[in-house]
Amino acid sequence: MLNFDMYMPARIVFGADTEKKIGELIKPYTKKVLLHYGGGSIKRTGLYDTVVKSLSDNNIDFVELGGVVPNPRLSLVHEGIKLCRDENVDLILAVGGGSAIDSAKAIAMGVYYDGDVWDMYEKRLPINKALPVAIILTIPAAGSESSGDTVISNEETGRKYGYGSPHLRPLISVMNPELFFTLPKNQIANGVADMMSHIFERYFTNTVNVDLTDGLCETTLRTIISNAPKLLENPEDYNAWAEIGFAGTVAHNGLLGMGREQDWACHNMEHELSAAYDVAHGAGLAVLTPAWMKYVYKDNIEMFAQFAINVMGVSKGLRDKEALVNEAIARLQEFYRRMGLPQTLEELGIDDSRLEEMAQKCTGFYYKQEGKIGGLKKLDWQDVLKIYKLAQ
Ligand code: NZQ
Ligand code: ZN
Repeated sequence: MLNFDMYMPARIVFGADTEKKIGELIKPYTKKVLLHYGGGSIKRTGLYDTVVKSLSDNNIDFVELGGVVPNPRLSLVHEGIKLCRDENVDLILAVGGGSAIDSAKAIAMGVYYDGDVWDMYEKRLPINKALPVAIILTIPAAGSESSGDTVISNEETGRKYGYGSPHLRPLISVMNPELFFTLPKNQIANGVADMMSHIFERYFTNTVNVDLTDGLCETTLRTIISNAPKLLENPEDYNAWAEIGFAGTVAHNGLLGMGREQDWACHNMEHELSAAYDVAHGAGLAVLTPAWMKYVYKDNIEMFAQFAINVMGVSKGLRDKEALVNEAIARLQEFYRRMGLPQTLEELGIDDSRLEEMAQKCTGFYYKQEGKIGGLKKLDWQDVLKIYKLAQ
């Protein structure tokens, strides 16, 4: 096990009707809130009215900024920073999924920075302050409700970058599984693929003597795999949503990666797809993950055999590890297919015209800053290109 520093202080308020308490929960921390949300689902579902009522019942003043799109844009972040400064906002309430939350975090740190907040993403400048961010989660997927991370797309440069800081850990995240009932099937599936990937990125490692986190990763993955299909049958299955919602948070709050070398190659490769083609993050991951597995498993076949047995339930032919692993990857692909997720880049609308460019951008080669990505196997841009081709 590697040395680690574990700090994961996000407060998660979980359960039915918890969103009605949002005003009460944030009242000790705020006089004026920026209510930040996406393209309108919260208005259609009535959640917007619930939130506004809870704020006004608690005499909390607010201004609002909607319009966050999936793969949230820098231009709206700039608008939000100006609004917060002009209106003396002291807390941001993000109501939505990873996109609204990440946009809120970008605004939260940008308010205290004189330059362009994109500098944080591009130059990795440290921050020592950000406005507090509270959250009502409407889609379990990105895990941003418990992470200190934010991912923003710069529409001018076509780059999508992440940034992390302990100052961006949410103050409070409210999670009511009933709010997930209105999610369309493709978003359910995208979310499931994303949270599974957050576990894979931590699970697949060359680090040994990490039995505890191995087991936590495996249990969380099995919980997702057994509960997700129930949601396609019945999107109002509270208990299945409760399992998936909690799993999504555990997947990305950092615990599962403690003491392990982490990978993150699939996320890096996917961010290029999202930046170039604006595909949904989870859908991109569902296409790339099996291709990545096929490309790297020989570098640590023991790890993949463990995955096959403990997660995918492969029990035959244990002496033939190659067959074991191939069966596990096939089962994972079958699971994604059953969830309605795309299987190929072609299904995502991506042809081969920009694969080389994306591979070179992914490792920095394109910007003359080549650095390998990945943990279990270190990948240069030619490796990434081969994985993209395997996913075609
Ligand atoms: O915009 P609205 O109208 O709200 O619709 C959204 C959006 O179209 C809809 N939706 C959300 N909740 C709903 C709902 N529709 C009906 N009923 C509900 N209850 O779902 C769509 C997707 O929402 P979005 O917030 O984009 O989804 P997600 O949570 O998957 O977030 C994706 C973003 O998170 C980033 C991704 O890169 C991507 O930009 N990530 C953030 C991470 C982090 N901060 O730690 C880590 C992740 O790896 C990921 O990279
Ligand atoms: Zn992700």
